[in-house]
Amino acid sequence: MFLTKLDVLKVRNLESVGISCHPKANIIYGANGSGKTSLLEAIFLLGRGRSFKHRDLRLVVNKQSDQLVVSAKVFRPASETTHQLGVMRTAKGDFEARCDGKSLQSAAELALELPIQLVDAHSFSLLEGGPLQRRQFLDWGVFHVEHGYSDLWRRFQKVLKQRNQLLRHGRIDEDSLRIWTAELIPLNEQITEYRKQYLSQLEQHIVPVVERFGGLGVVSLEYSQGWSEGAKIAEIFDGDRERDLATGTTSHGAHRADIRVFVDGMAAADRLSRGQSKLLVYALKLAQASQYQAATGQSCVFLLDDLPAELDADNRNDVVSYLDSLGCQYFVTGVDKQDFNAALEGMDGQLFHVEQGVVSNG
Ligand SMILES: Nc1ncnc2c1ncn2[C@@H]1O[C@H](COP(=O)(O)OP(=O)(O)OP(=O)(O)O)[C@@H](O)[C@H]1O
Ligand SMILES: [Mg+2]
Repeated sequence: MFLTKLDVLKVRNLESVGISCHPKANIIYGANGSGKTSLLEAIFLLGRGRSFKHRDLRLVVNKQSDQLVVSAKVFRPASETTHQLGVMRTAKGDFEARCDGKSLQSAAELALELPIQLVDAHSFSLLEGGPLQRRQFLDWGVFHVEHGYSDLWRRFQKVLKQRNQLLRHGRIDEDSLRIWTAELIPLNEQITEYRKQYLSQLEQHIVPVVERFGGLGVVSLEYSQGWSEGAKIAEIFDGDRERDLATGTTSHGAHRADIRVFVDGMAAADRLSRGQSKLLVYALKLAQASQYQAATGQSCVFLLDDLPAELDADNRNDVVSYLDSLGCQYFVTGVDKQDFNAALEGMDGQLFHVEQGVVSNG
């Protein structure tokens, strides 16, 4: 799917922006502080209901205003339908999302209307950061292809929280602990099953991307499920009993899962240069988009913040041409127009110039 029209009101330094979007390449250039990342923030907000820069959405509302609004027309080629999507956030904290005039109840519903992939300077932590980023990456994929997954995940979080509260309680209520533990066991198993299935499909989509990029090596992913492979989670909970009571937390389970990324059999972070690691992050996200497309028949929208600062010209072209071959719409930012010259040659796309919060066709 892709945006055909985007309207942004009061997002950071963007007072009022209205643009017609190109179905493929949207190249946004402008000086530091002009508002490029803010434009991507607006699109991200529309698809995810949150900011990629700030935990607190109030910081995203223009500081002279008390509410922001982002709306867009989203075209779905599979059904040849256009949908009107909108989000509103007041400085007081109210948030509202709508699709075709109907209220959406959760960020999960919004995400299904507009699947977004973002790559910015922080995306690098997918390889170098803690397991949370990798679990989020994995869960994005499972969520978008398995529609029951978000309910399953919410239920898991709720039961885990209840069990942890009980463990911290001091005098333990054995019956309640037995009940919450018994409920947590199948949830762990189902989440693990979904994630393993997804990862094995994803690996097949990584191969062609990495081949196209050349020189990265053989990439493989290994799922670490959050407890010993081959052991039953019920037995793990039995064995962890004293430790869980002492620490007041559930030591093992799907909430402790991770993905190990290998290149030619070595940990990716040890094997690759910094630039190559960045390229691998792009490859993983592109593979995810390709898997999403194979599973749903829809394409996702890519936001690539400051691409020229992240990759050299050859690698940039590889990323952009892969996006073109997938048919994904993308919004890419950079300071200098000439950094996009090679990509612009013979390219089907629209150039935008951002100057002090004003966006014009460039
Ligand atoms: N809540 C806000 N209200 C008004 N302006 C804001 C707010 N938050 C940030 N800004 C300003 O918005 C401007 C644009 O920021 P943005 O990150 O979009 O710039 P950019 O074009 O991506 O720059 P760079 O090339 O440095 O990444 C900055 O000057 C920033 O200080
Ligand atoms: Mg920026």
